[in-house]
Amino acid sequence: MERLVIRGGRPLEGSTRIHGAKNAALPILAAVTMADGETVIRDVPNLDDIRVMLDILRSIGARVYYADRVVTVDPTGICTTDVPEHLMRMMRSSVFLMGPLLARFGNVRVSKPGGCSIGTRPIDFHVKGLARLGADIIDRHGYIECLATRLQGTTIFLDFPSVGATENLMMAASLAQGETIIGNAAREPEIKDLALFLQKMGAHIEGAGEDTIIIHGVERLHGCEFRVSPDRVVTGTMMIAGAITKGHIELENARSSDLAAVIMKLREAGVHVTTGNDIIEVKQTGTLQAVDRIQTAPYPGFPTDLQAPFMSLLTLAKGTSIISETIFEDRFQHVSELQRMGAAIKVDLRTAFIKGVRELSGAAVEATDLRAGAALVLAGLGAQGTTIVDRVYHIDRGYESLETQLHDLGANIMRLRDQPHADIAVAEV
Ligand code: EPZ
Repeated sequence: MERLVIRGGRPLEGSTRIHGAKNAALPILAAVTMADGETVIRDVPNLDDIRVMLDILRSIGARVYYADRVVTVDPTGICTTDVPEHLMRMMRSSVFLMGPLLARFGNVRVSKPGGCSIGTRPIDFHVKGLARLGADIIDRHGYIECLATRLQGTTIFLDFPSVGATENLMMAASLAQGETIIGNAAREPEIKDLALFLQKMGAHIEGAGEDTIIIHGVERLHGCEFRVSPDRVVTGTMMIAGAITKGHIELENARSSDLAAVIMKLREAGVHVTTGNDIIEVKQTGTLQAVDRIQTAPYPGFPTDLQAPFMSLLTLAKGTSIISETIFEDRFQHVSELQRMGAAIKVDLRTAFIKGVRELSGAAVEATDLRAGAALVLAGLGAQGTTIVDRVYHIDRGYESLETQLHDLGANIMRLRDQPHADIAVAEV
């Protein structure tokens, strides 16, 4: 089992580049199955979830080549739409393949994705939308099978602006007969990235990034070249790293327009944030101030994926902050781990009350999910002493070698492989 060992107290200095967005690359990699020729996608981060998606594409017959964050896919060899269960189980985002494979081949069979530690994460909005587009749905023995000779354009109104459902249905509708309107659509930047990619493949899509998206189905989609936009969650995580260490860092390939809610809250907390053309500068000198209210919400509201990392910052702010998590039902698992480090946090259902403390102390903690793991690394950077973060595989799903990126900014952090805790306590880091 790999661990990250962090000795806190060092201000981060210098600049680092933000890699492409995992949550944009995953649906785009699913969409390539609809092309009738080779596609090249650039700035695809080297992450566990990406590698699973590429394995799925290979398992159904696509030819896939990946090097230096460039993915080349030739989908013309796809010979099955039965997504292997063991790969489905490894990553719930494989559900993104339902819309594209159904639209292109007329059928798809996926194992129902499990929930994860942050919630049950059903896919009913995806399935209901595909049924509205005319698919026959067979849901039994833990599998979902969808059949449709040709999907038919229609009007869909989502019960909730689900990111994944919006993406799946936008892809499916791209090859449907006629016009599809998706109401109450998600507006996240990743939706716009996917729409831009689909348009480069020849799709006719209007309104992506707004709450109503109109798709005029076409007969075929062709290969293209595309560059994935910067990862806004990694950007937010690195901004918080600069702030919690009282450092001064510059982020390149960082799109501040995707993070308006987060930048506003950082400034409320007393962090100096300067934004330029794809550059964000973070400088923290004075005392962090509590933020009276953060409520996660669909974009452009405060992103749920930065709730845990921001909470780590607020554990050291002067005063009491309040965070409400409205998107997922169980996304406070980092709280107990932060409490082990001396944080003063009380949780009442889906609201956390964070009373700032003078300092956190390093401890042995465990990542429970991707963003909770990142939050614990941030807390370790701001703590006195040594923090050991276990179950690093959670973090590797969404951050490309986080320890290297932080180390290059001056953090005292290293990755240890298969070493009992006892040795770590004396490990020089
Ligand atoms: C995407 O997940 C992201 N993942 C998540 O990032 C992100 O937290 C989430 O959007 C919200 O922004 C990817 O893009 C790969 P939703 P998704 O559908 O699409 C419920 C990370 O850390 N729901 O907008 O699954 C659902 O349970 C990950 O990078 C249904 O009830 O999110 C949740 O409570 C974590 N039925 C809420 O809606 C459905 O059919 C929002 O889910 C679909 C969703």
